[in-house]
Amino acid sequence: MKKVIIRKTEEIENWKRNINSEINFIPTMGNLHNGHLKLISTAKNDNSNVNLVSIFINPLQFDNKLDLENYPKTIDNDIKISFLNGADAIFIPSNEDIYPPNNKNIKFLKAPIELSSALCGLNRIGHFDGVCTVVYRFLNLIKPKNLYLGEKDWQQLLILKNLVLREKLNVAIKSIPTQRDFDGIPFSSRNVHLSKNERQLIRFFSSELLKAKKNFQQDKKINLNEIIKKLSAKKISIEYLEHLHPYTLQKARLHDNISLLAGAIRCGETRLIDHVFLMKRSPIIAIDGPAGSGKSTVTKLIAKKLKLLYLDTGAMYRALSWLMIKENIDYKKEKKLQNIFKDISIVFKTNTNSYQDVYVNNYCVTEEIRSQKISSIVSKISSIKEVRKFLVEEQRKIGESGGLVAEGRDIGTTVFPHAELKIFLTASIDERAKRRKSDKNSKDSQEIDLHKLKELIKKRDFEDSNREISPLIKANDAIEIITDGYTINEVVDKIIDLYNEKIPKETEIK
Ligand code: PAF
Repeated sequence: MKKVIIRKTEEIENWKRNINSEINFIPTMGNLHNGHLKLISTAKNDNSNVNLVSIFINPLQFDNKLDLENYPKTIDNDIKISFLNGADAIFIPSNEDIYPPNNKNIKFLKAPIELSSALCGLNRIGHFDGVCTVVYRFLNLIKPKNLYLGEKDWQQLLILKNLVLREKLNVAIKSIPTQRDFDGIPFSSRNVHLSKNERQLIRFFSSELLKAKKNFQQDKKINLNEIIKKLSAKKISIEYLEHLHPYTLQKARLHDNISLLAGAIRCGETRLIDHVFLMKRSPIIAIDGPAGSGKSTVTKLIAKKLKLLYLDTGAMYRALSWLMIKENIDYKKEKKLQNIFKDISIVFKTNTNSYQDVYVNNYCVTEEIRSQKISSIVSKISSIKEVRKFLVEEQRKIGESGGLVAEGRDIGTTVFPHAELKIFLTASIDERAKRRKSDKNSKDSQEIDLHKLKELIKKRDFEDSNREISPLIKANDAIEIITDGYTINEVVDKIIDLYNEKIPKETEIK
């Protein structure tokens, strides 16, 4: 494809007609650094869309005239490195193009108060209104499929996500983690202004944040005053240093698993921001839903794609049921149950096909636990109070450090009520029966006629939803996905999009 430079808004329409493809849009203000280049190359590698980079120093988002005048301009180099890193087209409009004088159609937007009255918004009056106005203008002009933004400007990212929702814009926002230079400081266009001494100071600031992140993983505590003292001792001028909820930007609460430690400092004339996410454990995805909703297939694929541990809690109940049948245990007798809990070991091991096998006391039961015999008693066994208590504890132990996707019926409500993303996966009974019948892992189901299978599913739903302990119900904060008519990959992609929307990419960085 011929690489092009577009300088006029009117040319955008023409260009769009010629490319005949969806667009990835990467807005910038130029003076491109490795952070921008990572955005451009990520967009290139994500899909086969055409990559459009804009370079426009938006006067509306500067609250300081001098800052606007001094904003570094390196247009020739920007063009060269954008094309080298995956841009297909570069849009370099003039001020008059973006804000034609007397054009009454330009919508001047206000950023939401809740998000813009914290952190950078406190000292940069009107800054986020200017960002919203220009990005809205670009999105309406370009109508891209995806908008790529850096997590380095976390507050901006939240405000733009809010803008997209509020204005019902049909664009997906994709983010990349903060990119750091060799000395740990985030890449920023303003770094060119730093003297050697100032760079040392910001290096100290960033290293304190990164240290706090590491310590938090162990102590689960943060002492803001201690950090402020250390920065002040170095005569670093702090604009703010805050510990907040990462999405609401309100004060962090004790039970937040992920929180945001964000700061802004001034070095000479230059103002710099940095942040880290503090995590008590890695994120957890909880996927609940009735039998045959596609949970297992979907969860396995998500685990593989996101490199998360896969916790199949249903398999644990089945494994326990299998042992009870094998050892002829009367599950109504509590003493017998306690004996079995003492000795049983249920372990998941990845097999040569990169899927997981289930072992009970070192014996592989992966296939046997899927038999109709087990299916017919697992619901009863899993409704026993002691059984649930025992297995929920085991599941929590496995999930202690997070980084997993768990599937079951009570994950979001009981096992991991603080999971970062909760999905309730479901489908009509007709659809679920059809799926069960064609399930290669369930030989027994293939032999049962469809009508009977539907009756069995209905019965299982009833038992699961009406049992006293941990019944199958959708958690209040779970997102329901009805999978009728969707392919497995479509459902997986939808959940991965939700995960990416909810969980900062930066939390993946150790
Ligand atoms: O992050 C930036 O560089 C700017 O705020 C943006 C998104 C390009 C809007 O001018």
